[in-house]
Amino acid sequence: MSRTVVISGASSGIGLATAKKLSSLGYQVIGLSRQMPKEAITFDYFLCDLADETSIQKAAQNILDKYPTIDALINCAGMGISGAIEYTTLREAKRIIDVNIIGSYLLSNAFIPTLRKTKGSRIINISSVAGELTVPFQTFYSMTKAAMNAYTEGLRMELKPFGVHVSAVLPGDTKTSFTANRQKSPIEVDPIYQDRIKRSIERMENDEQHGHDPQKVTAVILKILKRKNPPVFVTVGVKYKIFVFLKRFFPKRLLNWIMYIMYAK
Ligand SMILES: NC(=O)c1ccc[n+]([C@@H]2O[C@H](COP(=O)([O-])OP(=O)(O)OC[C@H]3O[C@@H](n4cnc5c(N)ncnc54)[C@H](OP(=O)(O)O)[C@@H]3O)[C@@H](O)[C@H]2O)c1
Repeated sequence: MSRTVVISGASSGIGLATAKKLSSLGYQVIGLSRQMPKEAITFDYFLCDLADETSIQKAAQNILDKYPTIDALINCAGMGISGAIEYTTLREAKRIIDVNIIGSYLLSNAFIPTLRKTKGSRIINISSVAGELTVPFQTFYSMTKAAMNAYTEGLRMELKPFGVHVSAVLPGDTKTSFTANRQKSPIEVDPIYQDRIKRSIERMENDEQHGHDPQKVTAVILKILKRKNPPVFVTVGVKYKIFVFLKRFFPKRLLNWIMYIMYAK
């Protein structure tokens, strides 16, 4: 069983819930993100900005100096942006790619040499159902999560001979501060898109705020940590499992129309 676990994005939401649970079960937990959690914690914490390569290297080195053996890395940190693709600035687009994808790849690279030394170690990437089903007016977020899925599959195959298991967890709507932290487009109603952006964002925010508890995602992560041969992808929640399953059989055109009706009309 994996014992020393690094969790990015452990200051709130899914990462914090997971860090707390694992710590209560006796795992040695090391959290990292830009800010300390706002509550008292029973696990170690390192500050790191995943959009900054130097900050990642420094944090990883500090962790490795203190904990030479790492059994698992959970790439949970992430951010969201919403709005029309047409109105998304290059800076916003690059930022979400840096945080959600490049940051996880750099952080993983920093720990892979150590993870390789422990047979049965693992990397768990927190992706999203939005990586399977592209959500309009949240397209850059979907793009990063689709990339996270491809990254998971590739890394899994590359690390297989070394006994490092790589999986991705795909949560559906989860009630966390992700909704409040999402960078919203300043243009929500205009003569071109009219109120489609606003309606879409309101719907996704409402879905998230009525979404499942982050502990549900933690339970899935815990199962992956314990399983001898964890699966490549695990979707969280029955409703989202059905969506992802149906995606395999539905014609692309029909699926695209359903997502249009739900989030872009
Ligand atoms: N909530 C949902 O509905 C949902 C659904 C599917 C997937 N997810 C995924 O679940 C993961 C966790 O999200 P959450 O819902 O728990 O949201 P959250 O409460 O907003 O947590 C996001 C975490 O990411 C960290 N983070 C953000 N930018 C960072 C940066 N530049 N460098 C380092 N850390 C950074 C934040 O910490 P600091 O602010 O301290 O840096 C925080 O700990 C994300 O990858 C998200 O995409 C969420």
